[in-house]
Amino acid sequence: MIDQATVQRILDTAEITEVVGEFVTLKRRGTNLLGLCPFHNEKTPSFNVSPSKGIYKCFGCGKGGSSVNFIMEHEHLSYVEALRWLARKYHIEVQEREERPEDIQERNDHESQIIVSEFAQKYFAAQMWETEFGKAIGLGYFHERGFRDETVRKFGLGYCPEGKDLFTQAALKEGYKMEYLEKTGLTIKREDWIRDRFAGRVMFPIHSISGRVIAFGGRTLSQDKTIAKYLNSPESDIYHKSRIVYGIYPAKRAIIQEDKCYLVEGYTDVMALHQSGIENVVASSGTSLTVDQIRLIRRFTKNITIIYDGDPAGIKASMRGIDLVLEEGINVKVLPLPEGEDPDSFSKTLSSTQLKAYIRENETDFIKFKTRILLTGTENDPLARARLITDIVGSISVIPEEIVRTEYLKECSRLLDVKEDVLYNEIRKLKQKKLEASSPAPREESAGTQESAPQDKGRQEERSTQSIVNPFELEEKEILRVLLKYGHLKIYDFLHEESGQWVSESVASYVLSEMEIDNMTSVDPLIQKILEEYKGRFTDPEFDAARYFSLHPNPAVSMLASDLLSEKHPISPYWERGGSYIEKEEDLLQVVIPKLVREYKLRVVSVMMIRIEAEMKLANATANFDQSMELMATYQKMKEIEKILCKQLDRTYNPKK
Ligand code: CTP
Ligand code: MN
Repeated sequence: MIDQATVQRILDTAEITEVVGEFVTLKRRGTNLLGLCPFHNEKTPSFNVSPSKGIYKCFGCGKGGSSVNFIMEHEHLSYVEALRWLARKYHIEVQEREERPEDIQERNDHESQIIVSEFAQKYFAAQMWETEFGKAIGLGYFHERGFRDETVRKFGLGYCPEGKDLFTQAALKEGYKMEYLEKTGLTIKREDWIRDRFAGRVMFPIHSISGRVIAFGGRTLSQDKTIAKYLNSPESDIYHKSRIVYGIYPAKRAIIQEDKCYLVEGYTDVMALHQSGIENVVASSGTSLTVDQIRLIRRFTKNITIIYDGDPAGIKASMRGIDLVLEEGINVKVLPLPEGEDPDSFSKTLSSTQLKAYIRENETDFIKFKTRILLTGTENDPLARARLITDIVGSISVIPEEIVRTEYLKECSRLLDVKEDVLYNEIRKLKQKKLEASSPAPREESAGTQESAPQDKGRQEERSTQSIVNPFELEEKEILRVLLKYGHLKIYDFLHEESGQWVSESVASYVLSEMEIDNMTSVDPLIQKILEEYKGRFTDPEFDAARYFSLHPNPAVSMLASDLLSEKHPISPYWERGGSYIEKEEDLLQVVIPKLVREYKLRVVSVMMIRIEAEMKLANATANFDQSMELMATYQKMKEIEKILCKQLDRTYNPKK
């Protein structure tokens, strides 16, 4: 745990051009520096670094943020790890916040479990490469299956010798404690006996994202069908099966480079693809895909292609995987394999070039895949067809991004030969059902009020923004952007009534007080957090909002801020006047900002009116007369406000009218 003052020192010292410059050759271009983006393949540079703002932004792939974000992204480190990395670079001594004895205990305990696992991995590998039995049985097995030495080494494979407790005895002799051997499941201990969990199996170490050994899978070499083919380490403090995917460590760089991840089922599938030159691949290994696993992959890419075995079980598994992946806002494709093949066996029938070509030609987006599978046999069965439509529409409806959803609906309409309207109707029905199942929380109450440990905050926000749909996202981001960019500038001079003096009002004070009057908060906890922090600080004359938020210790905040501040943030419609874009925003603050605030309010009002209308319908249907009258009154009030806002807006755009 790094002490807060140290964090600040690191943030202040880590100069963006220097940090980025260590990995990217930068050339000066005006006030900025420009280079080739390290996060995607490009030939013409679109990677910008702004020394004055302390941020980088790639206009090709959209990645951007502060020095810390850069190191996190480039070195695949967590926030704290990135801070330590920077501290090392700048020789800043890290003041550790004092840990409680139980924290230290836990850290040591986890570390000990990892250390014993790393010992085990080395031991198993040595057994396989250096002993007669190991070479003949273990390495022989992998050779027989067509794996080359380099692949076997790359994955750190090994062999656990046959016997009762050879491994455990070796570990104890080296001074490793029974407690940790037992906690990691390497040793099974009962009252009167101990034995090696993996005796006689070939060993696949499972690595964490940062490449440490946290668990094992062991495959039997026996043909006996009554013995489990694979045996895995049990859940432990360091190994949570549902939160890790096999192969993420050797895959992560390739996943980022290709901006895509293949998802397969088994250990050997991952290895076989690597051997064919495809390194951006991971396996869910023995569990059906979980949300945490998908989120782990999503840290590296938003494009997943599922390659499952070409048998009915494999197809069923892909179907289940698809909706989960879609729900996380990921683009998903499916690669069907010929019946009876898995990626391991199939990749060995083709050369690396042929395999890549096969993938390119046969990758199908999920709508086509699902339609094709489900459509077979339903040609003349209208009922089955209707079910199919509901099913596919169900998959589409979980996609969080509207644009993507619309695209899929179009495609679905074409494939199934059903009008788009009909599909939209289906979606509406589904949403209605979901709505009835869970009544939504009102706007004010859902704003982020949850307190939790600071290091969990980022994660939690990331989660909650996914599940909440913010109908005012565009408006609120635009508000934030002007606050960050122009908050300190003057918007109006006005005559102070009491003192009779002219005073100036800043953009920040104008915008925030306008929002306060109407009690406006954001449903998006991240936006709300920024607004609140802004409110708490903007009266300080030293406060530099742009710098403060783009170098913010919470990576979600700094990411959003640098996104909003980067020059090519798409110009929103608010900046348009009479068809022509306003060139310099600063000069038009008086026109543009009040307009923006009113547009925002108008949107809020109209959404509220739609909601009231729906409630009125319900009240009428249930003959709830009192409630209906009350709603009517509120509705009328809203209508008044709407009228006023529209009038004000007209006056602002078009003073002569
Ligand atoms: N698995 C498991 N326990 C089992 C069987 C399978 O944990 N008893 C997991 C393993 O991670 C395995 C994956 O599920 O890699 C896929 O299983 P399967 O297709 O049966 O194995 P393959 O990877 O094809 O293994 P092999 O090629 O060695 O037979
Ligand atoms: Mn296999």
